[in-house]
Amino acid sequence: MIPQSGTAARRAAERYLMNTYKRPPLVFTRGKGCYLWDDRGKKYLDFLGGIAVNALGHAHPRIVRVVRREAARAIHLSNLFHNQYQGPLAEKLVKWSGLDHVFFTNSGSEAIEGALKLSRIYARKKTGADSPPVKTKILALEHSFHGRTFGALAITASAKYRVPYEPLMPGAVFVRFNDVADLEAKFDDSVCAVILEPVQGEGGVFPVSEAFYNRARQLCTDHDAALIADEIQCGLGRTGRYFAYQKFSALPDIAVVAKPLAGGLPLGAILASEKFASAFSPGLHGTTFGGGPMICAAALEFLNTLEKEKLLANVRARGEQLRAGLEKLKSKFDFVKEVRGEGLIAGMELTIEGAAITQEALRRGVIINCTHERTLRFLPPFIVTSKQVNDFLAALERVLAGAARKNKAAAATPVATAAGSAR
Ligand SMILES: Cc1ncc(COP(=O)(O)O)c(C=O)c1O
Repeated sequence: MIPQSGTAARRAAERYLMNTYKRPPLVFTRGKGCYLWDDRGKKYLDFLGGIAVNALGHAHPRIVRVVRREAARAIHLSNLFHNQYQGPLAEKLVKWSGLDHVFFTNSGSEAIEGALKLSRIYARKKTGADSPPVKTKILALEHSFHGRTFGALAITASAKYRVPYEPLMPGAVFVRFNDVADLEAKFDDSVCAVILEPVQGEGGVFPVSEAFYNRARQLCTDHDAALIADEIQCGLGRTGRYFAYQKFSALPDIAVVAKPLAGGLPLGAILASEKFASAFSPGLHGTTFGGGPMICAAALEFLNTLEKEKLLANVRARGEQLRAGLEKLKSKFDFVKEVRGEGLIAGMELTIEGAAITQEALRRGVIINCTHERTLRFLPPFIVTSKQVNDFLAALERVLAGAARKNKAAAATPVATAAGSAR
C-alpha cells in the first residue's frame, strides 16, 4: 500500500485519533542517523530522539538488518515457549546491571507496574501470604514521572497527570527531592519500596544526589524494602554509563529500563536481584507480547552496538561538549536560569515559557522538547557527532536570540502603552 500524502494522513489523524497530543502540523516520513525529513522534504536535526528512544538514531543499518532478518523468521511466539533471543538478552542485561533476573515488557509503564507488583509480592511473602498486607507503602519523589497506567500514575508527582484519574493505587507517598530528612521522616516498616529516577527526565532533568541515594539504599536494606531505580529514560547508556545508578557505590534491588532498549521497537524490562526476583513464580505475572523474538534480537543488536561502536565514550564526550555550549548560552541570555544533566540527557531551565522556543527551533529545522513549561530538554542519539552538537548549539543560540529580542520588545510595549494612555 502506498502511504497517503502527508496532508491527507495528518487530516485523518486530526479527525480520527483521540485528542491526547498537541502536534505541530507536519508529518515526518523518514529518518537517517540524527536527521529526520518531513513530507515536504525539509530536513530536521533531531535532538529529541523519539523522547530518548532512538539512541542509535534513525534507520541504523545494524537494527534494520536484524529486524528484516527476524521479521521473515518469527515476529512473535508468546511467552509460553522459549525463543532464541530472550535468554541471551537477559544474560547481557544481568551482566551489565549487576542484578540477577529479568522480565520483559512492552513499555516503560508496564515495567513499572511489574516492578511495583514484585516489591509488593516480596513483602507479602515475607510477612506471610495469609496475614493482612501491611507492607504496601511506596515512597516516590517530588518531580517524578513513572508512566500513565494506574500504578505508575500513583507514584508520578505531577498533579496534572495524576489528579484527573483519582482514586489511584493507594499507598503512594511523595518525598521532597534529594531531602534526606524528609525521606527519613516518611520511612517506616510499612514501606515496601522506594522508587527513584537516578536522573529525572520529564520532571525537568534533575539528578538524584549521592547522599539521598545512599540513604534510600540503607533504609531499604534496614526495613527489607526494595530500592527501585527507574532507568527508563536515563538508563542504557544515556548518562555515559550502562546504568545511571552505576555512579553510586551500591546497587538497587530492582531496575526498570525501556525506551532505547530495542533500537526503536517497544520493549521494556524489569531487572531484579535474586532476593526480590525469587518472589515471582509461574502465574504471578505475565504478558502476551513482551520479549518476542524479533524485538529481543533488535535489543541484543542495540546492546552489542553500544559496545562495538564504543558509544558510551561518545555519549560522555558529546555530553560535555553539549553542556559546555549550553553554559555559554546561559551566560549570554539572562532568561536561562540553569543547565543540568549528565551525558546526553540535558536540561536548560528558563525563567520564561519554553513552548515558543521549541516551535521556533522546529521552524528552523531543530527538534527539541520542553518539559514542565520552562525546561528545554535535549536527548540526542548516542551517535551524535561533534559537528552536529555545534550545529545544534548555533541553531539554539539563534532561537534564544530571537526570544531575547521578543522579550525586550514585550517589556518595552506596556511602558509605551502606559505612556501613551497617560497623555
Ligand atoms: C522515567 C520514566 N519512567 C516511565 C516512563 C513511562 O514509559 P512508557 O511511556 O514507555 O510507558 C517514562 C516515559 O517517559 C519515563 O521517562
